[in-house]
Amino acid sequence: MKIQPAKCLDGLIRLPGDKSISHRAAIFAALATGETRIKNFATNADCLSTLDCLRNLGVEITQENSTVFVKGMGKDRLVKPIKELDCGNSGTTMRLLAGVLAGQKFDSVLTGDESLSKRPMRRIIEPLTEMGAKIESENGCAPLKIYGANPLRAISYKLPVASAQVKSCVLLAGLNADGTTTVQNPKAEHQSPTSRNHTELMLRYLGAEIEERFIEANGFTQKIFIDGNSELVAKDLNVPSDISSAAFFVVAGSCLENSEIVLENVGLNPTRTAILDALQSFGADIEITNSKEACGEIIGDIRARGQKNLTSKTASNLIEGDVIANLIDEIPILAVFGTQIENGLEIRGASELRVKESDRIAAIVENLRLMNAAVEEFPDGFRVEKSELKGATVDSFGDHRIAMAFAVAALFATGETEIIGAESAGVSFPEFFKTLSTLRK
Ligand code: S3P
Repeated sequence: MKIQPAKCLDGLIRLPGDKSISHRAAIFAALATGETRIKNFATNADCLSTLDCLRNLGVEITQENSTVFVKGMGKDRLVKPIKELDCGNSGTTMRLLAGVLAGQKFDSVLTGDESLSKRPMRRIIEPLTEMGAKIESENGCAPLKIYGANPLRAISYKLPVASAQVKSCVLLAGLNADGTTTVQNPKAEHQSPTSRNHTELMLRYLGAEIEERFIEANGFTQKIFIDGNSELVAKDLNVPSDISSAAFFVVAGSCLENSEIVLENVGLNPTRTAILDALQSFGADIEITNSKEACGEIIGDIRARGQKNLTSKTASNLIEGDVIANLIDEIPILAVFGTQIENGLEIRGASELRVKESDRIAAIVENLRLMNAAVEEFPDGFRVEKSELKGATVDSFGDHRIAMAFAVAALFATGETEIIGAESAGVSFPEFFKTLSTLRK
């Protein structure tokens, strides 16, 4: 994909559904009793992997554009698949389904593409084994052979990392456990969930008995309790637009003078909006309007206006600590934003980025350098200076968010940029390049 610089972007758009919420909607609908209609389902490669795996587990699913109909099977009534379940590139599919499959009365195999087969799975193998499932892996990586047990043992599990996928995996296994399963998040400075809480919100919306409590002692520890007697009851779901996809346009619109972009109906769950807070604190002109609640989630419109020189409102342009988990997927585009702001930007405490769809720290640093930015790499992050970007040939490293972040970098650069492997954007946002071209003025 070859991309030319842009003068400004302008327009009103409605982006596809949130990837995290779409995965959950499909999986939870499959575990519910009754039929669910999911509107604005994200029809990207990752979420289609989830639908495909569910179909192979006997779930009847039909699709009309972005509306998906799921016939629920009940939480422990899935059917033994006749083949391996291919999760493609999707960590969320693999980790959430592992939690479901651990509590079924059959064995199954989860596989993934080359990138997913290198990602760490011990973080789910350990709690699921403690709950009584048996899991075989390749040195802690996929393929995973899961021997389910029903009921599983209810456990109290302390999450070693602030990971929504691991938390969700254990909570889903907890639905098929013989008592109350507790998941304890790592300690945080504030009384708020340490990672995205779509699972908790949606399970509650569908009738599960799930509660959260904060324990205060030198900070806050969140504990989530799920009752193994919970049953999910089908209810129609409406997926908000994906704030992680919106972030690419918000950054582009904020940095290109005279731009004005409005993104409608975006998911504004507080565990996901740290990106907007960060951009605003670094001087971006962002406004939220029409906030309301839908299916347990907050949604609203985002307006971003461009300025020539962004002036930071904070003393240090450093992002670290608890907030990292709440903007983890937006760090590639934040890095690009950092090249456009006074004093640059530093990210620390983000070593999780090294085990995403690619080693995102390495990918960001390499591509920014190729585009003439001054960047320093750390084991757990990077520092980028305000830089005059120059068009170059960069690689997506097969990673959707790297492809899209550098498409935005290309808008700010002088000369043409070529992105190798740009098609990987389809993992979360197949319409990305088309949407970007409609906004160019
Ligand atoms: C996700 C959780 C995050 C995020 C990923 C989606 C989810 O991963 O990076 O893109 O839907 O639960 P971790 O749970 O590994 O932090």
